[in-house]
Amino acid sequence: MEIKQAEFIKSAVTPTQYPEDDKIEIAFVGRSNVGKSSLINNLTNRKKLVKVSSTPGKTRLINFFLINNSFYFVDLPGYGYAKVSKQEKSSWSKTIESYLLNRPQLKKIILLVDCRRKPTEDDIVMYNWIRHYGYDSTVVATKVDKLNRSELMMSKKIIKETLSMNEGEELIFYSTLKKRGKEELLEDIFNSLGKTGI
Ligand code: GTP
Ligand code: MG
Repeated sequence: MEIKQAEFIKSAVTPTQYPEDDKIEIAFVGRSNVGKSSLINNLTNRKKLVKVSSTPGKTRLINFFLINNSFYFVDLPGYGYAKVSKQEKSSWSKTIESYLLNRPQLKKIILLVDCRRKPTEDDIVMYNWIRHYGYDSTVVATKVDKLNRSELMMSKKIIKETLSMNEGEELIFYSTLKKRGKEELLEDIFNSLGKTGI
């Protein structure tokens, strides 16, 4: 399970701007600042493939990265960032929605939640939506280096309960700083791809 190649292909807002081939796509969704871009850098062993910023709300476009020349990672704009105008919020959610609703290539959705926070209403809506449409999904709890062992146990319980996760539904604890969760998530991703014959 290895990512040997990762290349930024393009940014998009509307469906006409998405890549035109029909390679499988794996999308990363979650609140602004939860760590989506950092996670993609970490998975691909690249420090600067995706821009990471201490200013939340950095990613406003959909970014497509070609992985191993065979499938895409898709970095979606983060939702739920309080300090943007209503107008901007609605344009972001339109960008996210039109991708999620109009993309037959989309195979798997990875939902990121911050291990230090209870998943929000937006996270719950997103997770229910993913399940409703029958996508492969995995929940990743990010920034686990910030909690100790017993806090992590509590966090796991809160995330599972709040998102009403069932037994078989995957929750992976991840830290880009401590390199935790990487092998597990890569294996999970390649398993999903395996089902489609890549
Ligand atoms: P938007 O693009 O605004 O939606 O944010 P994002 O979800 O892409 O988050 P990003 O990757 O930009 O990370 C936000 C902040 O969290 C940055 O300051 C990162 O350095 C930090 N961060 C990300 N992952 C980790 C982690 O595993 N541990 C710690 N301690 N910090 C992290
Ligand atoms: Mg980002």
